[in-house]
Amino acid sequence: MRLQGKIAVITGSAQGIGRAIAEVFASEGAQLVISDINAESTRKTADEMETRYGVETIAVVCNVAKLEDCEALTKVSLDKFSKIDILVNNAGITKDNLILRMSEADWDAVIAVNLKGVFNCIKAVGKQMLKQRQGRIVNIASVVGQMGNTGQINYSASKGGVISMTKTCAREFASRNILVNAIAPGFIRTAMTDKLTEDQKQVMTSAVPLLRLGEASDVAKAALFFASDDSSYVTGHVLAVNGGMYM
Ligand SMILES: NC(=O)c1ccc[n+]([C@@H]2O[C@H](COP(=O)([O-])OP(=O)(O)OC[C@H]3O[C@@H](n4cnc5c(N)ncnc54)[C@H](O)[C@@H]3O)[C@@H](O)[C@H]2O)c1
Repeated sequence: MRLQGKIAVITGSAQGIGRAIAEVFASEGAQLVISDINAESTRKTADEMETRYGVETIAVVCNVAKLEDCEALTKVSLDKFSKIDILVNNAGITKDNLILRMSEADWDAVIAVNLKGVFNCIKAVGKQMLKQRQGRIVNIASVVGQMGNTGQINYSASKGGVISMTKTCAREFASRNILVNAIAPGFIRTAMTDKLTEDQKQVMTSAVPLLRLGEASDVAKAALFFASDDSSYVTGHVLAVNGGMYM
């Protein structure tokens, strides 16, 4: 059990990649704070984790775009567990369009959740980790933050920002034994990519040397590496989990 006795806060964990990370962490003994913007699915996922893995789990509704929500998430987590060992910044959205057609509202919405949301959660949880003099922060970026993508100016900017924030926080927190790393997934089969047409998925798959879309569990295994002692001398790293589509 690689995470026995550890407390993990995972944003956007009611479904998709966040939920898969919660499952892998729970199967390794971590106790969980399942957090998402959707109250019903947050509660349901937390109940399922507790039943399936027998680990203590709480459900906290939190919109990561709001600093006060992230502060409340931290407080509720500490009231229950007294510490936070692992923070996974996973919540994210897309609102795709070509730059000339993109509305200001769609730019702002994606930046607020994907970029400022990571800032908000690190600011709120980081204070506690500094006191503890230990912690792990895992940020879910994207291959699109590394290579850009037509129709995703807002999303690629947010994820590129997450990568540079990861490196800045890794430097700021290193002396307190807080390791900060990022995962840059390629195209992963979740609700986010289900929106794409079969033709779009075909084109994407053909650009992947492993010739398949990734699974949420592929990303979760990388998150476990960063959350566990296996990565004790790794910080500021961006791990590509993309089937080789960008090297
Ligand atoms: N699926 C992919 O191909 C892919 C690739 C690269 C990176 N990612 C990133 O992985 C992360 C998870 O994506 P996914 O594919 O599981 O998508 P998903 O849509 O299945 O899950 C995202 C979760 O985030 C939650 N969420 C949305 N806005 C929120 C907010 N303001 N506050 C809190 N929670 C919020 C949603 O309710 C949902 O449960 C995202 O950051 C995404 O950008 C996904």
